[in-house]
Amino acid sequence: MQPTSETREDDVEHDETFERAITALRTRRSGHNFAPDADIDDATLEEIIEDATLAPSSYNLQPWEFVVVQDEERLDTVVELAFGQEHIRDAGTAVLVAGHTTPKTADRVFDEWTESGRMDKETAAQTKEQTVEMYADERMGRDYAIRNASLAAENLLLSAHARGLAATPMIGFDAEGIAEFLGLPDDTVPVVLIALGPSGGEEPDQLPRRSVDEVLHREEY
Ligand SMILES: Cc1cc2nc3c(=O)[nH]c(=O)nc-3n(C[C@H](O)[C@H](O)[C@H](O)COP(=O)(O)O)c2cc1C
Repeated sequence: MQPTSETREDDVEHDETFERAITALRTRRSGHNFAPDADIDDATLEEIIEDATLAPSSYNLQPWEFVVVQDEERLDTVVELAFGQEHIRDAGTAVLVAGHTTPKTADRVFDEWTESGRMDKETAAQTKEQTVEMYADERMGRDYAIRNASLAAENLLLSAHARGLAATPMIGFDAEGIAEFLGLPDDTVPVVLIALGPSGGEEPDQLPRRSVDEVLHREEY
């Protein structure tokens, strides 16, 4: 939107931020062309992980972990566990986004709800108990891990893209093998493996998307 004489300065800033955010999500691609001789620096990696942690999560429980592999020999093993997907090696960084199957951050997070004045103590205690009970079910626990960590993974992809890097989400990997190789605890499951690194340039055209008419259902399916 063009600023007008009646547009407040913060509205203009908001519009610019909004436009950049929409452009980032509309132009994001799963990169397969990484620059093999370039790596990302630690500060950028940490900023991207911080962006990932800003994703929404059930009761803000943030049930995710990010395991980064950059060592060349270890990356070779990750490539093997990902059925030979060589672009992981070219990327130079593999990030396994993993999710908790149990709400093990609940004590701390529900304390933060009360400390911030957003929930009274009694409500927080009840909600925590219900949450722990709900996720005790094996299926719910797994859903909980995958739903929350997937949102963090999408934040990570968008953050990488906004910073001019390439990133590809992958589920083509041996989940048990990678969990063992990376030493994940029993209550933490692999959700998405992300190849991350400087782009090597051109990528093929974006594949077509199903239209809004096809996917949008109003009031019922
Ligand atoms: C759950 C999931 C699993 C995927 N697995 C792989 C994979 O194993 N290897 C790969 O190269 N790309 C993988 N992709 C990337 C998709 O191929 C890609 O997102 C899709 O073709 C759309 O392209 P775009 O991301 O560039 O828009 C995966 C994407 C998702 C969301």
